[in-house]
Amino acid sequence: MCGIVGYLGKKNTKEILLDGLKELEYRGYDSAGIAVLQNNNFSSYKAIGKLVNLQEKTKDFITDSFAVGIGHTRWATHGKPTELNAHPHLGESSYVVHNGIIENYAELKSELEANGVKFLSQTDTEVIVHQFEKNLKTSTSAFEAFETTISELKGAYAVLLVTKGENETIFFAKHGSPMLVGINHEDEKYFASSDTPLIGQATDVNYFEDGDYGFVSKSEIAIFSKDGKRKKPQFSKISTNKLSAQKDGYRFFMEKEIYEQSDVISDTLMGRLGDDEINFDELDPKLFDGINEIKLCACGTSYHSALSATYMFERYAKIRCSVEIASEFRYRKPLMCKDTLFVVISQSGETADTLETLKMAKEAGLKTLVICNVDNSSMVRLSDACILTRAGIEKGVASTKAFATQVTVFWMLSLYVAKLKNSMDSIELARQINLLREVPASTKVTDSMHEKIKRLSKRYLHGHGFFFIGRDIFFPLALEGALKLKEISYLHAEGYPSGEMKHGPIALADPELFTIALLPQHLLHEKSKSNVEELSARDSTICAISAVEFDKADDFIQISTCQDYMLEFFEMMVVVQLLSLEISVRLGNDVDMPRNLAKSVTVE
Ligand code: F6R
Repeated sequence: MCGIVGYLGKKNTKEILLDGLKELEYRGYDSAGIAVLQNNNFSSYKAIGKLVNLQEKTKDFITDSFAVGIGHTRWATHGKPTELNAHPHLGESSYVVHNGIIENYAELKSELEANGVKFLSQTDTEVIVHQFEKNLKTSTSAFEAFETTISELKGAYAVLLVTKGENETIFFAKHGSPMLVGINHEDEKYFASSDTPLIGQATDVNYFEDGDYGFVSKSEIAIFSKDGKRKKPQFSKISTNKLSAQKDGYRFFMEKEIYEQSDVISDTLMGRLGDDEINFDELDPKLFDGINEIKLCACGTSYHSALSATYMFERYAKIRCSVEIASEFRYRKPLMCKDTLFVVISQSGETADTLETLKMAKEAGLKTLVICNVDNSSMVRLSDACILTRAGIEKGVASTKAFATQVTVFWMLSLYVAKLKNSMDSIELARQINLLREVPASTKVTDSMHEKIKRLSKRYLHGHGFFFIGRDIFFPLALEGALKLKEISYLHAEGYPSGEMKHGPIALADPELFTIALLPQHLLHEKSKSNVEELSARDSTICAISAVEFDKADDFIQISTCQDYMLEFFEMMVVVQLLSLEISVRLGNDVDMPRNLAKSVTVE
């Protein structure tokens, strides 16, 4: 995800900006850039790929006197990861960096273009700097122009802007994306989008609130709230622990990543939802010409998201779809037909078994697509087409937000194919797209839900096993819930189709068998309920997750009432992730680095 730094002072500005960006690397990015204003001259450098590329480009650039500078790491959303799309963005004599989304950028851009402004990038960010320069022409000061510009933006942003007429000033605004300013005893000022770049540099920090904007100069820190009133900075001592700063106050990366899901799903959806169609700019619709079947192949959590996709492809797009575990597929001499689109799914894009199946499909002459979280990974480079999931770097070994964004992409892709194949009527398509818009809200963690799960977790620390059960698309979610629990609690857990329990596993039922029952209100509710009742009658301890009360359960986690089972899917996903997390915490395990597991499995 994007990162921002800013510096005002007389030390080596270039090094401070690059060091700051380095501290934000863990968030993930695909290009980076800086702009420094020194002696009324701008120097700006951008590079795609890792920061070493930017370091190389700036190696002869020296800053040896007072300067102001801004820097950015970009995770591509609007427009590809190219140098032109990298920040900072230039107007005529100003530069801007931005995190977030400017929702009304298209409108602002067409007005500016109508007035002769030329845009260099495909980003939403570039409108900010041009809008500022337009306002500058009619304002009495740069600050007034900045203030007007901010009032014209809709969406979420953290913005830093520097302009030539104000050589000792950085303008800032924050609304919906994080931003803080730091100070020290050497009269330096630092900006960043999280604590980490400021640790060891600043002594005290002020966290901006939504709606704050203003400027920081050599002698002044001027903060205004959204109603235009000047407010006093609230400085506090900055933490000195980098690792905990990277966790943004959460106890574990996994916890932070669960909480981030709502935001990363918004990123995944961004620019892809039309009124009655899904836009994947990265896909050539010809990819689907002559395709009669989709075959999905993956490992672990990614396999579970693929399994959920089979329900969506067949139900929504009416196309045959099968799913394979990569380590099985690669050795079973599978039949591969050219009318099959071969799709691999991988968070890392490097998993050895999945990569190998992609090679096999290519050798067999199949068209291939990868759904991946890491641009430029081996699978992305090898595959004919690619959709990036935009989850940002996932640090917790137990995958959470990668799964959430994979399922989101699959939902969109099934609707994309439905439109291509004309297999869904336009009213239903528009309804589905509106449901997708609600996924970020369905995945927001509420304090009351987390608190409830925390309390309840103490009852599930022993027993002889867990069964996560669900029907239809809730079966892959049950598998995923069980996998999460196994990975970080080391307790035995299985995911099972609810209707299949009576064909064997029900023999295990007793009070020490814990059943985590997924009971959606809008999909096979009565049938799923009777499967749980069968277990309850045999004294299994039941924890039901549902929007509607279920009196046969020992414990009940209530999700919100919503209008479609897919929204229930996403909310239940958060519940099972949190349940695993809290059980693992109570057992004293290493949540982020569970024993015997690695984040990227590049061996067979
Ligand atoms: C589980 C988990 C693993 C991965 C699997 C595939 O939490 O993370 O099961 O899903 O190793 O990894 P990717 O998606 O990188 O191919």
